[in-house]
Amino acid sequence: MATIKWNPTQMATGVAEVDEQHQEWIRRYNQFDEAIHQGKGLEAAKSTLNFFIAYADTHFQFEEEVMSKRHSPAEKANKDAHDHMRLVLDGFKSYAEKHGYSMSEMLGLKFQMERWLINHILTVDIKLRDA
Ligand SMILES: [Fe+2]
Ligand SMILES: [Fe+2]
Repeated sequence: MATIKWNPTQMATGVAEVDEQHQEWIRRYNQFDEAIHQGKGLEAAKSTLNFFIAYADTHFQFEEEVMSKRHSPAEKANKDAHDHMRLVLDGFKSYAEKHGYSMSEMLGLKFQMERWLINHILTVDIKLRDA
């Protein structure tokens, strides 16, 4: 059963592409969560990290452009948070390349993904509704 469910009342920004990308993110989070529960989290960690890095390249950039075109008041907060997450992901990647994927790194990655949904989408991305 999915841990996080798409809830349009809380989560929809009103920009169809952004909402689709967020739903894809939730789907990947749930897969990762399920893999952890099945004891396959370490195998899933690598593809999850790669997904999140690719997502940062495509989704973050797309969303930044939408906010910029609309002169959204959340534009700077969104870009700053994305830049921070890009650094976090680079950190995970270089650590994993050096040391492999450990249980604590994997749980750290899951925590970052959860936090991203709760703190970022629901407080920053959601401001697309206003602009
Ligand atoms: Fe964002
Ligand atoms: Fe987003």
